[in-house]
Amino acid sequence: MTTAYPITDHAYDVLVVGAGGAGLRATMGMAAAGLKTACISKVFPTRSHTVAAQGGIGAALGNMAEDSWQWHMFDTVKGSDWLGDQDAIEYMCRAAVPAVHELEHFGVPFSRTPDGKIYQRPFGGHMRNYGEAPVQRACAAADRTGHAILHTLYQQCLKFNAEFFIEFFAIDVIMDDDGACRGVIAWNLDDGTIHRFQAHTTVFATGGYGRAYFSCTSAHTCTGDGNAMVGRANLPLQDHEFIQFHPTGIYGSGCLITEGARGEGGYLTNSEGERFMERYAPTAKDLASRDVVSRSMTVEIREGRGTGTEKDYIMLHLEHLGADVLWERLPGITETAKIFAGVDATKEPIPVLPTVHYNMGGIPTNYHGEALRPTKDDPDAVVPGLMAVGECGCASVHGANRLGTNSLLDLVVFGRAAALRAAEIIKPGASHPPLPKDSADLALSRLDRLRNADGTKSTAEIRLDMQRTMQNNAAVFREQDVLAQGCKEIDEVWNSMGDIKLSDRSMIWNSDLVEALELENLMVCAKASMYSAEARKESRGAHAREDCPDRDDENWMKHSLAWVDDKGKVTLDYRPVHTYTLTDEAEYIKPQSRVY
Ligand code: FUM
Repeated sequence: MTTAYPITDHAYDVLVVGAGGAGLRATMGMAAAGLKTACISKVFPTRSHTVAAQGGIGAALGNMAEDSWQWHMFDTVKGSDWLGDQDAIEYMCRAAVPAVHELEHFGVPFSRTPDGKIYQRPFGGHMRNYGEAPVQRACAAADRTGHAILHTLYQQCLKFNAEFFIEFFAIDVIMDDDGACRGVIAWNLDDGTIHRFQAHTTVFATGGYGRAYFSCTSAHTCTGDGNAMVGRANLPLQDHEFIQFHPTGIYGSGCLITEGARGEGGYLTNSEGERFMERYAPTAKDLASRDVVSRSMTVEIREGRGTGTEKDYIMLHLEHLGADVLWERLPGITETAKIFAGVDATKEPIPVLPTVHYNMGGIPTNYHGEALRPTKDDPDAVVPGLMAVGECGCASVHGANRLGTNSLLDLVVFGRAAALRAAEIIKPGASHPPLPKDSADLALSRLDRLRNADGTKSTAEIRLDMQRTMQNNAAVFREQDVLAQGCKEIDEVWNSMGDIKLSDRSMIWNSDLVEALELENLMVCAKASMYSAEARKESRGAHAREDCPDRDDENWMKHSLAWVDDKGKVTLDYRPVHTYTLTDEAEYIKPQSRVY
């Protein structure tokens, strides 16, 4: 392909794409290890979506009462509904305690107990002694924990002289003929130039794809860019059917009200004023796992016990906690409730509804963060030169349902793991082999096609069609007919991409083009999600099928793999769940029924 785009070349030991918690922890670790490290991000690092994480980071510090990483591991495996890989879960839960202490030493301003320890609050699904009663495990900086961590990590990256390329949008990966990743092609949004980044290892830390849905807690930037780039490189996406609905998005706007609110003693009621979670989860009640609470709320609404004139939401009560507790422990959501629900949370309940919040699936990786290209002979085969960490990766520590606070934990633990691995396998300053001649073709032909698109539909129209299809057909409860219809409709939306029209052809701050590229990325993710969900004939974690209400370990305790080709055809396969631990200090946790 001949190209009208001059290309600026860069060479680094490692390249990190994305500057949220996982990207920054990886960047910092790699730079600290002496590797020449670049981090590119489509937004300013401290505006990455990690900034919105509220309630806490999970670690069995035991500051408030006895706790252990083995209990944390048990809760995480149970929360995952036995789809999580137990070696990776052991790695994460064991590493949690030093990871939080490390953050404290980096300067994260955690809230404190009266005797000066890191403050910890209860969170859904986190229990003491293998499920006995809730435990306080979420290490919190008020309700702005993500904000505190993100800013601290960015400062650490600067300290170690990592190089940042800010407002650079990665378009596609460069793969060589041996199937190794060699870097990315990126567009500098500020001046319109195209850049080729070559690296021995490229780490995707691009976040989730919440924006495939109409109502979500995710930032507008959460468009599955890394997942889609990997998909276009003919690599599979894993467990995309598992999409978490957070129980307490504000009715109407979807803004997050942290689970920490229930951790501090908040509770849900239906239109009859009943604390209905006592019926669904007699032990954990409002602090049951998120999928359980979201389903219970949905059942209440369906059975006519929703609140309001349309009987379509649930009430979250915090007013009994008192203004002092709210302003000290939950200042962010007290403000959010005022702005987005018009509610003074110190005096009245907040109207809430389950809202899309997190993608458990993503780019399959091992617990070092290395991306996988599973084959029948080797389901754990590694893609040389490619890693994925954070929400875009699937290690898989969250399986079919993530516990709250385990996402911030996942970011720092696997960001660090990727840095350790890179330092092990890359010699600083090693020379780069020549790139394939067509290294920029995939990315630039995509850019060209969209810039010149002259159909009849706007990006916004097509995006809305996609979001409605996902919202209506792959929701909290699912069933065969609705999912099959969802596949049909998402195919139609995919086909309508051929009729897209862009109104702006410039290369400088062309938000129309950015959004069209993001929409293509979202569509890859949406396709993988809908088709994987239609195929999985069981209920597990966040995938709740009314026509197959039980978990089916015999046939379905396996990870889904979805390949989405450039015509939108989806091919599915599966790989085994890791049912072994890393060490003898953790026992394999056998599947059991999941009650809270
Ligand atoms: O509810 C929350 O604060 C969200 C936390 C999480 O998703 O881990």
